[in-house]
Amino acid sequence: MGKIAFIGTGNMGGAIVRAVCAKVEAEQVYLANRGIEKAQALAEELGCNVCPDNLSAARDAEFIFLGVKPWQIREVIREIEPVLTGMETLVSMAAGVPAEAMAELLPKANPLIRIMPNTPCAIGEGLVLTAPHPSCPEEKAPELEQLLSECGRVGRTDEEHAEAAMTVGGCTPAFTYLFIEALSDGGVRAGLKRSEAMLWAAQAVAGAAKMVMESGQHPGALKDAVCSPKGATMEGIRTLEMNAFRGAVMDAVLVAAKRSAGLG
Ligand SMILES: NC(=O)c1ccc[n+]([C@@H]2O[C@H](COP(=O)([O-])OP(=O)(O)OC[C@H]3O[C@@H](n4cnc5c(N)ncnc54)[C@H](OP(=O)(O)O)[C@@H]3O)[C@@H](O)[C@H]2O)c1
Repeated sequence: MGKIAFIGTGNMGGAIVRAVCAKVEAEQVYLANRGIEKAQALAEELGCNVCPDNLSAARDAEFIFLGVKPWQIREVIREIEPVLTGMETLVSMAAGVPAEAMAELLPKANPLIRIMPNTPCAIGEGLVLTAPHPSCPEEKAPELEQLLSECGRVGRTDEEHAEAAMTVGGCTPAFTYLFIEALSDGGVRAGLKRSEAMLWAAQAVAGAAKMVMESGQHPGALKDAVCSPKGATMEGIRTLEMNAFRGAVMDAVLVAAKRSAGLG
């Protein structure tokens, strides 16, 4: 594996830099960011290189990760265009920017892969889905997936499902933080200390997620198994259902996917 460049090392780009540095030698990794301090701080912490501009990051890179906002993709591609030879694989994490739209911006037929990541990648508990552009050489996506393996779970999707995948994977951490906060607020109201309520709620959420993945059971069956007749859990579930909990979550996913598609 050769040089790996990151342009835009904010929340999401930075999380992926951490995972990639856990996989390859940090000297192979080059960071560029508009405000250089952000890239510098990350480079110092992880031992990778910092570049003074996007061009020097992109030059001779095997993979170029674009971690800028969707509406900044065009400007960054225009900027690095002079050093693109057609061999560098461009990896975009931008919501709402189809690979086809990126391909149209490129003078050469660089391999293109969209990824749909989330920020828990920074601690190896993330999700990254890859969606290679149809013209991307077959070996490129598995190479990228290997490179991202320290992010957590890595899977494959396609352009048609990109925004839905971006939402279920990318937005769920924020939705879940809200849920954990609400659970701990309830715990505090019921008399727990804030620090305990938060830790216990977070552990319960993490454990429930693991139960779904490791047992392979439907979440409804797991829920049924912990609801005894006239029990406390059933009483809580009734209240959640009366407040349209599941409908609200489903709507959140749908509006986020719609919004995501409009961002590019
Ligand atoms: N956050 C998530 O959970 C998540 C999930 C999935 C996908 N994404 C995607 O990830 C991308 C980044 O989102 P984010 O949340 O990480 O945003 P962010 O924290 O604002 O990061 C964007 C970074 O890009 C830098 N930047 C802007 N223009 C640049 C330029 N011309 N050259 C070099 N660097 C530039 C910014 O630097 P300055 O701060 O100095 O301006 C900033 O550090 C977006 O496209 C988003 O759709 C995010």
